[in-house]
Amino acid sequence: MPPTPLTSLRESAPAILPSLLQCDFGNLEREVRALEAAGVAALHLDVMDGHFVPNLTYGMPIVASLRDLTELTLDVHLMIANPLDYAAAFRDAGADIITVHVEAVSEPVTAVREIQSLGVGAGLAINPHTPFEKITAAAAACDIALVMSVPAGFGGQPFDSCALQRLADLRRDHPDLVLEVDGGVNIDTIGRCTDAGADLLVVGSAIFRHASYSSAIDDLSAAAKKSSSAS
Ligand code: DX5
Ligand code: ZN
Repeated sequence: MPPTPLTSLRESAPAILPSLLQCDFGNLEREVRALEAAGVAALHLDVMDGHFVPNLTYGMPIVASLRDLTELTLDVHLMIANPLDYAAAFRDAGADIITVHVEAVSEPVTAVREIQSLGVGAGLAINPHTPFEKITAAAAACDIALVMSVPAGFGGQPFDSCALQRLADLRRDHPDLVLEVDGGVNIDTIGRCTDAGADLLVVGSAIFRHASYSSAIDDLSAAAKKSSSAS
């Protein structure tokens, strides 16, 4: 069986995924080419609906435009209410991985299976203040688990270290599960995330607030690898 985008990503772990929230949407092709040149393997797309989170970003048209622009894996983080109503549309737009919040679905395992039936990688995300059991009860069904280290909704928030124990617990109990961490990941926190078991590190501000995406990503990668090789 050929590798899926998710298994390829896991093989390249620790992998840095730029979060498309604070990028220049007026120059999306330029932004994508700069991230490709920086050597990233995937893009993390932050979809927000103004209901599940008090912020509003973009939907399927932008995902479809990104699909036309790049071969990079598209990791779609749905911070929306009723995400299963839109999962097929995001798959059609070009998503390779779709993650929905445990807070937004009544039956997390059913939600994962429904997303898997669309032929894409399926994940659950959990906010820092949501009881951990909400995701541990469903982790065995997931292809990926997204541990939020900030409350979903905005970039530039401070890292909540509660995510580290959650990552470590999920890694202990599910050795083959792809683990992703998202929010406040930067040069100071990335090493602790990889030490705790994270495979995919979503980064927004610590890339997009830098003039050179390549040097920011190189520094972050070095910090991630240094720590994981030390552990
Ligand atoms: C927050 C998003 C994150 C965020 C990361 O709701 O899911 O992906 O954009 O941005 P930073 O790295 O600035 O916290
Ligand atoms: Zn995100």
